[in-house]
Amino acid sequence: MGIFDRYRHLLDARQAMRESGADPLVTMERVVSPTEAIIAGRKTLLVGTHNYFGLTFDESCIAAAIAATRAEGTGTTGSRMANGSYAEHAALEAELADFYGMKHCMVTTTGYQANLGIISTLVGEGDYLVIDADSHASIYDACKQTQATVIRFRHNDPASLEARLRRLKDEPGNKLVVVEGIYSMLGDTAPLREFVDITKRYGGYILVDEAHSMGAMGAHCRGLVEHVGVLDQVDFVVGTFSKTLGAIGGFCTSNLEGFEVLRVATRAYMFTASLPPSIVASVRAALRIVRRDGAKLQARLWENVATLYDGLTEAGFRLGPERSPVIAVLLPDQMTAVGVWNALLEAGIYVNLAVPPATPGGLCLLRCSISAAHSRGQLQHMVDTLTGIGRRFGLLSTERKRAVASAR
Ligand SMILES: Cc1ncc(COP(=O)(O)O)c(C=O)c1O
Repeated sequence: MGIFDRYRHLLDARQAMRESGADPLVTMERVVSPTEAIIAGRKTLLVGTHNYFGLTFDESCIAAAIAATRAEGTGTTGSRMANGSYAEHAALEAELADFYGMKHCMVTTTGYQANLGIISTLVGEGDYLVIDADSHASIYDACKQTQATVIRFRHNDPASLEARLRRLKDEPGNKLVVVEGIYSMLGDTAPLREFVDITKRYGGYILVDEAHSMGAMGAHCRGLVEHVGVLDQVDFVVGTFSKTLGAIGGFCTSNLEGFEVLRVATRAYMFTASLPPSIVASVRAALRIVRRDGAKLQARLWENVATLYDGLTEAGFRLGPERSPVIAVLLPDQMTAVGVWNALLEAGIYVNLAVPPATPGGLCLLRCSISAAHSRGQLQHMVDTLTGIGRRFGLLSTERKRAVASAR
């Protein structure tokens, strides 16, 4: 047996997709703005990147990155534990902690590493890690690394969480509950207030991953924790720099005494190179923009969400359950999803194709991510184009429209 043979099924699945006319591993020949790229020689509208505030081309972020590179070089060439922190790493951590009104913050090289490293370190042998069933891969991978007992509860279901914690109530050991603000496939938000109440009632700790909700939610863009008023009750907030902040990196912030020990216990922080000066500088610049203009950018983002979500609903598409910067267009099967995705790309619009096992409940969907940088015209064009394709695929018959309307 060859070393790659165990992955035959993945190659076969990709080949089958190619044969049906689509290869979702798209190459962008050139990205020309937060909302446009050249793909297959054609100018393409990007509705499949998580550029929620459209900051990837912001002049002040670019200037900060260039200046930092000139001043301190292209990379740190090592980890903070072994090779030292730059003053700017600490400055970014202080600014993030201040943004959330927390005492502590630790920055990691990706958001994936923040979840992987911190969750798997917070709980160990004799403890319990209690996660939502639809958790992101980084949370599932933390489950593989921890010695804690892993327990899943039904997605976004407070009663299911409570049942699990009730069963554990006399067990010694810490209980860490992990949920997300906005879920990345269907764009639904967690019933966070209920989750926090239940967790606290049973003496547990709660960590909220705000990867998709930082910026998009909360009066000061601090995410769902702020939106529902539980920022002072959650134990840990995890986030990423790869979405609203337009760069790469992750962080965890907390008020808990003793948090700093994570710097010498979290392997995904200790044994990997730290963020380069350019990224730290552009993230700090992006955070300044969020603090200064966040309300305006957030309002524009939600106007854009409404244009696409309401337009597609009106056309008769089945979508994720709520208006969200992540809009899932639900399709009946993989063949249709591949066909519609490909037709959209040929029409010059890029979205994400998501099929099992990457999706919850075996769903086949097109994932659209909205940006404050999209123009209304761009999104109306997407509604019109997708509606035309939907008609061609027989997805929008009057009967279907009626069925969707009565199911709501
Ligand atoms: C919910 C969630 N958490 C964490 C991550 C990881 O973030 P990063 O891209 O910074 O590694 C993602 C990325 O898509 C995500 O969707």
